[in-house]
Parts: sequence; C-alpha cells; structure tokens
Amino acid sequence: MSGAGKASALLCAFVLLPFAAARTMIELTTVDGGPVSMIPETVQYNWSDTSPSGILRGSPDLPASDPRLQPALQGYPEQVSVTYYGPTSVRFGWVTGQSQTGYGFLEGYPDSSTSNVQLGLAPSAYTVVLGGTSTRYDYIHYGFKGAMNYTSPKLHSVVAEDLRPNTTYFYRVGDLKTQYWSKEFSFTTPPAGPSYPLRMGLIGDVGQTYNSSDTFHHLAASKPQVALIMGDLTYADNYESNGTLYPSNFNISYPGENARYPPNHEASGSDDKLWYSVNVGPAHIAFITSYADYDRESPQYQWLAADLASVNRTETPWLIVTFHAPWYTSYSAHWQEANCQRLAMEPLLYENGVDLVFNGHVHAYERTFPVYNNTLDECGPVHLTLGDGGNIEDLAATFVDYPGYCPSVPQRGPTYQPDVCNQLLYDGEYCPTSQPEWSAFREPSFGHSMLEFLDDTHARFAWYRNQDADTSVADEVILVRNPENCGIPVEGLNNKAD
Ligand SMILES: *[C@@H]1O[C@H](CO)[C@@H](O)[C@H](O)[C@H]1NC(C)=O
Ligand SMILES: *[C@@H]1O[C@H](CO)[C@@H](O)[C@H](O)[C@H]1NC(C)=O
Ligand SMILES: *[C@@H]1O[C@H](CO)[C@@H](O)[C@H](O)[C@H]1NC(C)=O
Ligand SMILES: *[C@@H]1O[C@H](CO)[C@@H](O)[C@H](O)[C@H]1NC(C)=O
Ligand SMILES: *[C@@H]1O[C@H](CO)[C@@H](O)[C@H](O)[C@H]1NC(C)=O
Ligand SMILES: *[C@@H]1O[C@H](CO)[C@@H](O)[C@H](O)[C@H]1NC(C)=O
Ligand SMILES: *[C@@H]1O[C@H](CO)[C@@H](O)[C@H](O)[C@H]1NC(C)=O
Ligand SMILES: *[C@@H]1O[C@H](CO)[C@@H](O)[C@H](O)[C@H]1NC(C)=O
Repeated sequence: MSGAGKASALLCAFVLLPFAAARTMIELTTVDGGPVSMIPETVQYNWSDTSPSGILRGSPDLPASDPRLQPALQGYPEQVSVTYYGPTSVRFGWVTGQSQTGYGFLEGYPDSSTSNVQLGLAPSAYTVVLGGTSTRYDYIHYGFKGAMNYTSPKLHSVVAEDLRPNTTYFYRVGDLKTQYWSKEFSFTTPPAGPSYPLRMGLIGDVGQTYNSSDTFHHLAASKPQVALIMGDLTYADNYESNGTLYPSNFNISYPGENARYPPNHEASGSDDKLWYSVNVGPAHIAFITSYADYDRESPQYQWLAADLASVNRTETPWLIVTFHAPWYTSYSAHWQEANCQRLAMEPLLYENGVDLVFNGHVHAYERTFPVYNNTLDECGPVHLTLGDGGNIEDLAATFVDYPGYCPSVPQRGPTYQPDVCNQLLYDGEYCPTSQPEWSAFREPSFGHSMLEFLDDTHARFAWYRNQDADTSVADEVILVRNPENCGIPVEGLNNKAD
C-alpha cells in the first residue's frame, strides 16, 4: 500500500488490529441457515423455444412514439433523477429543452431556464428552495461516414446537503423564475450509520428496451432503498447521433455520463470521475473502471489502494468493489477479457478483505463461490455478474465449457480495451470443459438482484427473473461474514441475526 496521505490511517489500523492481513471469510448458507451445495449449477437457455417471444430473446428499444418517451411541454422539466451523493446528500438531475443534431457547429437550442428544487417534509409543503447549475455537452459518434454533431438538451444539477437520515422528502424540480415545475416526487434518505436492514437494488446493462422497462418494474416491486447500477445504463452506441439505428460502434468517451450523472468523486479523494467511493449505510462501495489504466503505478490503482486501506470496518463492515467487466464469468461472451485487470488488482482486493464484487458487461446472471486467483478461497470475495438488465443486444446464452463455444484465443483485446492477458488455466487449456468450480450458479435470463444487509455479518442476496412473479426468487443465498477467521477485528460487531 503506498500513498503518503494514507500512511497514518494504515498505521492507526495496525495499532488497533490484532492481525496485519485483513481478509474476510464469506460463508454461504441457505435462507434457513443450512449449508449450500458446492456443486456448480447451470440453468440452460431453452434452445428449443424458437418463438418470436421466446423468453430468452431480447426486445427492441422503445420507439420514440412510446407514450413514456413523450417530451415535456417546452420549458418544463423531464428525465428527473435523484442520485446518491453521500450519506446525507443527494443530487437532483433533469433536462429542459431539446437536443440538436447536425453537421459542424450547432447554435444550441435557446433555453434560459434556471435550476431550482423545492423541498419539504410533507406533500406540497416546500420549506426550502435550492439553486444549482446547468450544462450541455456535445458529441460526435465518430467511426463512420457522415457522423453528425449532437448537442444535448440543457442538463440541470442541484445538490441538497445535510439531509436528515431516514427521512422522506417531497420535492419538485424546475424554474423558480417562470414557475415551470415538474410533478412532485419523493425519496427517503438511508438511516444514519450502520443500521439494519438496508435493501439495495442491483442492476446492470439495462438499456431502454421493453425488457429494460420490465426490469425497472420488478426492481421497484422489490422496494430497494437505494439502487446500484453496474454500468451500461444506456446503449446510445447502437445509434447514430441523429437517432438512426446503427450497428454498435463503441468509441470510448464519457461526455454523456459525466454531464448527466456526475459522481461526487472528490469527496473520496479521487481526481477522476471514473473512480470514487461512497458509504451507503453499512457498506463502503468503491467504483472503479475496466477502461482506464489499472497497473500498480496507475492513478486508479493508487487511489483504490488508499481508499480500501482507509475503510473503517466498524463503521462500514461491508466492503464492496464494483466495475463493469467481470473477472469471473464463464459465459463465452467476454471470456478472459478482463483478465489483465484481474491480474493487476485482485491481490489488492483480497488483502483488504473485500466481501463482494459486482459487475455487468455479460448480458446474463452468474454468482460465484468465494474465489481468489481462480481457486475456491474462503477469504476471497463473492463475484456477481449482473449484466442482465434487458438491453437491446440480447442475452449472453452460451458457456465457455460447452463444446464448440470456447472462443478462439484472441491476439488482442477489443478496441476499447487493448490489453489481452490470456491464460491457460484449465488443464493447460484456454477454456474449461465443465462449469468452473468457482461458478456457483449461472442462468441466461434478464432480471435484477437485491442485497439486503441484515447485520454486520449477515446479508441476503437474491436474484429475480423478469419472467417470474415479483416475489419469486430464482437464486438466493445468505452471505455470512466471518471476519475473525481471516483477520478482521470483531469488536463492536452489530450482530442481530444469530
Ligand atoms: C422450451 O421451449 C419449448 C418450446 O416453446 C417448450 O415446449 C418447452 O416446454 C420449454 N422447456 C422448458 C424447460 O421450459
Ligand atoms: C423481452 O421482452 C419481450 C417483449 O416484452 C418478451 O417477449 C421477452 O420474453 C423478453 N425477453 C426476456 C429475455 O426477458
Ligand atoms: C458541435 O456543436 C457545438 C455547439 O453546439 C460546438 O461547440 C462544437 O464545436 C461542434 N462540434 C463540431 C466538431 O463541429
Ligand atoms: C474515436 O473518436 C475519436 C474522437 O473522439 C476519433 O478521433 C477516432 O477516430 C475514433 N476512433 C474510432 C476507432 O472510431
Ligand atoms: C441520420 O444520419 C445518417 C447519416 O449520418 C443518415 O443516413 C440518416 O438518414 C439520418 N437519419 C435521419 C432521421 O435524419
Ligand atoms: C426509520 O423510520 C421509520 C419510521 O419512519 C422507523 O420505523 C424506523 O425504525 C427508522 N429506522 C431507523 C434505523 O431509525
Ligand atoms: C472506527 O470507527 C469506530 C466507530 O466510529 C471508532 O471508534 C474507531 O476509533 C475507528 N477506528 C479507526 C482506526 O479510526
Ligand atoms: C495464482 O496461482 C498460480 C498457480 O495457479 C500461482 O503461480 C500464482 O503465484 C498465484 N498468484 C497469486 C497472486 O497468488
């Protein structure tokens, strides 16, 4: 661990902790507390279902004519979002006016609206007016002939700080000057500190199809207090700038994400929006990226090392790392694609006792047993591939261990990820011939997941499929942290589930 700024935190930890290594043993049990089977389980794609509405196929994006996508009246807010900005703060985002597409320089759609939020503790009883900022971004989806310039609508941003914990706020967003307001919405802040239970929704690779809408409806039915998105929220790369469908032509650039949902990266000592951390109730969640340098000397690695070392496991016992491309997935899609990052960063996660790793990228669901260095390891994290949100690119449905489905060994990575670190880890072969021992459960279906923190050492993880009833669980496990077994201090543990 390097970084002079964190030396004192680390030293402090060494004084207080009985063990130098801070690894966490994660044990899995059934909901009844019984042992889980250690036999890898697969639910297969139903290849015989060739009907157009086969549940395993994706659906197109909602057309622009869909009632849900109709623009607001000119000057009125639309696309309202509220994002977690810190334990006592949120960021409101919305859009006014129109986007523009055309060639060369665009004038920009005239829009003089201001950025305001009215906030109160009861419906229509606003006691606070907040002001904020607005921005636009422009973007050219290069890579094909005739690419057009796109200029976004006006993107508004207002941050509310010092909110009360566990409190429902009612709000509307809009323009104090013209009194053009959105309808009223509400949100509830998380309880202070590590209090339980806390219900966290998990989605990835969602997109804007009918399946994506299904995923959001199911997620809402699970009543999460906060939701975590594993990347690829939209699939603008499947379109030209003017909205014409175009085969996916990915050219790495983040103007949209950074302008629409900017994270509060500076609050966690990061100088890049692509890596940062937040505390949510009992969890410390570090967000890193698969698409920037991750070697030991890189700014991303250095930041993560300092961030993980500074976590106080009494305040946030649960330690989670999330990034887009999974290190542990046994689908043919993206096989070993993130192996360079795994080789560079996996020891750092292990040494810091990370409990859970969340990813997307592969458009399906997979859960691992605790794993480290490609081997079952009770002090390693559980990895979850949650790219099953329903996007336009269809499901990933084949596994590397199926005869004929091991991809040929790539000589180079995809354009957006130039490194390639192929390893012959399975009896000297590139692919295994059966489901890897670390793969606990895999199924190609769209859905969402819920993580419910029960206390400092117990959490319930559940996966829900879109084709099932809201309350029907397709994969479920209790995660039991046994920190003492791997060198995490147990003083002050808030353990109610026993
Ligand atoms: C697979 O799809 C076929 C054709 O729709 C159907 O008859 C069969 O019941 C399905 N199998 C399973 C296991 O769902
Ligand atoms: C996607 O949505 C379509 C249309 O609503 C549905 O027929 C199909 O079963 C869904 N696919 C999946 C994988 O859920
Ligand atoms: C696209 O339009 C914006 C103004 O809306 C302008 O700032 C930018 O330079 C334009 N880009 C190109 C390549 O013409
Ligand atoms: C990616 O976009 C950049 C401009 O941001 C452009 O110069 C470059 O040619 C594009 N690369 C590909 C492979 O499309
Ligand atoms: C969008 O732009 C492409 C060329 O970039 C053109 O072929 C297509 O017709 C345009 N579509 C619309 C709806 O303007
Ligand atoms: C949060 O508030 C609700 C009532 O609004 C209460 O029932 C619950 O106990 C509170 N939770 C905590 C952790 O304070
Ligand atoms: C961790 O947090 C607890 C509870 O807030 C506090 O008592 C303890 O001093 C902290 N430990 C370190 C190393 O800062
Ligand atoms: C991972 O396992 C391989 C043997 O399979 C070993 O050579 C390597 O040193 C291990 N790496 C780490 C970081 O433990």
